[in-house]
Amino acid sequence: MKNFISAHDAPDINALVKKALGFKNDPFKEKRKGINKRIGLLFLNPSLRTRLSTQIAAQNLGMEAIVFNIGHEGWALEFEEEAIMSGTTVEHVKDAAPVLGKYFDILGIRTFPSLKNREDDYSELYINQFIKYAGIPIISLESATLHPLQSLTDVITITESFKQKRKPKIVLTWAPHVKPLPQCVANSFSQWINAWGKANFVITHPEEYELDEQFTKGATIITDQHKALKDADFIYVKNWSTYKDYGKIYCNDPEWMLTKKKLKITNNGKIMHCLPVRRNVELSDEILDSTNSIVTQQAANRVWAAQAVLSEILPPSPKGE
Ligand code: CP
Repeated sequence: MKNFISAHDAPDINALVKKALGFKNDPFKEKRKGINKRIGLLFLNPSLRTRLSTQIAAQNLGMEAIVFNIGHEGWALEFEEEAIMSGTTVEHVKDAAPVLGKYFDILGIRTFPSLKNREDDYSELYINQFIKYAGIPIISLESATLHPLQSLTDVITITESFKQKRKPKIVLTWAPHVKPLPQCVANSFSQWINAWGKANFVITHPEEYELDEQFTKGATIITDQHKALKDADFIYVKNWSTYKDYGKIYCNDPEWMLTKKKLKITNNGKIMHCLPVRRNVELSDEILDSTNSIVTQQAANRVWAAQAVLSEILPPSPKGE
């Protein structure tokens, strides 16, 4: 594995899940694999889970992890080619990324979309410029359109939680929110579940909240949430803003919030959410605090997903280890 940006970078998702669960069982089994290696974790946006779980994963492999909140503490970066930098940006990524490539062995980058210009966001300019100029492997810690470490975690969590022989029914449901949020988690979850191919996958959302078809193709998409939830084994709850008329909120209808009553039509479904979650807006207390919720287990699994990915990217262990 050279970079980890999307599901396309994981040629065998089941093998990666197996590797992650191996680390969950024995966190220090490759404790010297990353010895004398350094990862830089660059954040242009806030994070709790991604930042800490990736640091822990790196340390479990013997790597040094250095976090840089580049969005607050670094020079304002320019990403456009041939920009005339007479505005607010101070340093071009073309200059900064090669320097970072000399300091680190692997770089993790978190960026968010602007939600103002769909073409710009979906071009993934920020992460692609780091790939182009850093000269070392790049891991997405969430980009403008995708969140692959989260989605790998989600597949790990579903795999370890579902022991039946049949395919699980997984429903991704839109939920209300007070502000326009990126489509990253929903895009990425759809991309990974479709690529995994081991589920009956349904997406439900209000009219006008269609996601980009390049990620959802293969899923059943219905706007009747009640119908979608029937017999669901896993319900992944997430808000996203509109994709077509980009970055808008058309609806924040509280009727779309999951309730215990709705849970009754599922197959005692397990509730997933990537966190952070706005309680009693996106998901109710009664659901989050119920035994159906596996959000803490899911967040805890972020360590093993990151560790599996780092282990894949690192060169083989020193001889005999
Ligand atoms: N799920 C997730 O990415 O959480 P953080 O934003 O806290 O990293």
